[in-house]
Amino acid sequence: MAKLNIVKFGEEALRKVCRPVDEITPKIVRLLDDMIETMRAANGCGLAAPQVGILRRIAVIEVEEGEVYELINPKIIAYSGEQREVEGCLSNPGKWGVTKRPMAVTVRAMNRHGEEYELNGKGLLARAICHECDHLDGKLYTDVQIEAVDAD
Ligand code: NI
Repeated sequence: MAKLNIVKFGEEALRKVCRPVDEITPKIVRLLDDMIETMRAANGCGLAAPQVGILRRIAVIEVEEGEVYELINPKIIAYSGEQREVEGCLSNPGKWGVTKRPMAVTVRAMNRHGEEYELNGKGLLARAICHECDHLDGKLYTDVQIEAVDAD
């Protein structure tokens, strides 16, 4: 595994619509491993492929330690409720903003074995799912933030 470089806000890669994955190759599996390592090393709870300069629809999430979700070609198929919480991004270190997100979402995605699954997330997990799916469409949390939070 290798730790990858995380690109920062302002870089073009973060504004691109990413391409779907049509076949899980060893390269994709290695990318997933590297993304997980990179996310953990940066103490993040989610990371999307464009954040490491790869324009494919892939994200990893680890909100609860040890519980990693791999989302390949994820699609949010249901959402409900609302939450307003502070959110940040590994591509925008040291900055936070309050965003409005659904309280609960259901996402359909594929894992590294090519198996489709559905994941229900509430609270922080729902936020992470929305945040990472947005990345795959070139959207950043600052696009949906209600207000910036000053870091003291
Ligand atoms: Ni992010």
